[in-house]
Amino acid sequence: MALAAETKRIVAQFEYSDADVNIGVKEFLRQIDEGLEKSGTSMSQIPTYVTAVPNGTEKGLYLAVDLGGTNLRVCSVRLNGDNSFNLTYSKAAVPKSLMVAKTAKELFQFIAQHIDSFIKEHHYDHYEHHVRRRETMSNPEGYRDEHIFRLGFTFSFPVQQVGINKGFLIRWTKGFDIPDAIGKDVCALLQEEIDILHLPVKVAALVNDTVGTLMARSYTSPGKTGALLGAIFGTGTNGAYIEKLSNIKKPLEGEYDTSTGEMVLNTEWGSFDNQLNVLPNTTFDIKLDSESVNPGIQMFEKRVSGMFLGEILRIVLVSLLQDKSVQLFHDDNSSHNDWKSTTTIAPESGIFKKWGLDSAIMSVAALDNTPDLGTLRQELDSQLDVYSPSMEDAQAFKAIASAIGRRAARLSAVAVGAIVLQSGKLTDPAQGDEPIDIGVDGSLVEHYPHFRTMIYDALKAIDGIGEVGAERIRIGIAKDGSGVGAALIALVAASMEKKQPTAEESLKQVRSEALLQNSGRQLSAVNEVPEQTTPNNEEAIDA
Ligand code: BGC
Repeated sequence: MALAAETKRIVAQFEYSDADVNIGVKEFLRQIDEGLEKSGTSMSQIPTYVTAVPNGTEKGLYLAVDLGGTNLRVCSVRLNGDNSFNLTYSKAAVPKSLMVAKTAKELFQFIAQHIDSFIKEHHYDHYEHHVRRRETMSNPEGYRDEHIFRLGFTFSFPVQQVGINKGFLIRWTKGFDIPDAIGKDVCALLQEEIDILHLPVKVAALVNDTVGTLMARSYTSPGKTGALLGAIFGTGTNGAYIEKLSNIKKPLEGEYDTSTGEMVLNTEWGSFDNQLNVLPNTTFDIKLDSESVNPGIQMFEKRVSGMFLGEILRIVLVSLLQDKSVQLFHDDNSSHNDWKSTTTIAPESGIFKKWGLDSAIMSVAALDNTPDLGTLRQELDSQLDVYSPSMEDAQAFKAIASAIGRRAARLSAVAVGAIVLQSGKLTDPAQGDEPIDIGVDGSLVEHYPHFRTMIYDALKAIDGIGEVGAERIRIGIAKDGSGVGAALIALVAASMEKKQPTAEESLKQVRSEALLQNSGRQLSAVNEVPEQTTPNNEEAIDA
């Protein structure tokens, strides 16, 4: 009984009502504006210098590297020009020691080594071709313009971007902490390590995963208008959307194309409302934040993203376990347990370890609607060393986990809804009947049961959206945004290079083409810069 009552009390603390959603949206819109006015605000609203989204006709072969959380992904992407693509990829876990390495060099060296092995394994011909060409160059500097692979670098941390392939790290998130890297240009750090290995790769574009998601969604979903927003609900959370240039009041330092009148902004909404004007703040949220590597920062993310939801739940469970009157994971004797056993929790259970509760079990809890919650109870046993959990234990776990997941989804709706309202698309005649398209990616939105449905439910409650507006919003999964999207931005970057060659670059181009002709070789298919800059492609991206 005590457990049921306590569970109810805790669940109520995670309620996030329709009224709360509306208050959240209002404040979100206010902080969007603040970020458009000046730098250094809690929601950074970072200009990306990407001024258009693709339409699916783009072509070419690009490399992409994705560093954004627990894994490093290296991939090559062939854009087929018909809304489709082919992707080859390799994945490696980022060792914990590198996430908190002493120097940035250690981490970037690791990335370069993985690019090296990827190229040798999947594109050996091109690698070998490059080596042969380099050997024939008389000028030691000559091979520099033979960076035959353009690479889109998806680096999913807050970066002050000052150009399409230049950006300075503002802060680490998601458990990374390498102070030495703060303030440095992450593209230069990567290029340096790539050059040390003499790889034929140019870091052509710096991409946040949300920007990649937005690009990938626009490439793959046919429609008259491109996607409005790319959002990640995974280990971390963030969104990038298209803003009118005229609304961006703060100075834009880098070069960009003004013809579309728009630019993609990386909101870094993980830091929405760091000042806690409106975000819910339970004792459990407070504890999580105070024990994190970045207290007071990423306050929205700490209530929404997969990395933190399991930890919030764990903190709640520990507090319940500390209260002996509640009797979580404890029976007086076997007659109280419908499995005719007594519940025990092993001292080595993940519940007693910081980050020891993987959010994935929350999905199991949400999905298990069997009368005796058998699946969840087995999972509690196998994942968290809770032996013979009782029905009441499982009910409490499910109720609390679901309340945390539901609050996360409704908070996510605050961000999505605010961006939709900010765009004005619901009332824009130019939008016509076209849906307002949103591409999403990340483990939470993909695997947490009904996450999108819960977002829609909250969207319907937002003033200015309502049932009718919510129906016009199309939220679809955009897989591999960080690969395909990065490739697409590398393509934009390559076309920009192509458009405005400096005198020195033009000379190098002439020289390398002459060398190619002399050696009687054809341009290999991988030398994609000429292939993708057909007039159509340029129009598609730049117009
Ligand atoms: C980072 C963002 C990123 C998001 C999703 C956040 O922690 O600050 O840059 O887009 O995670 O990966």
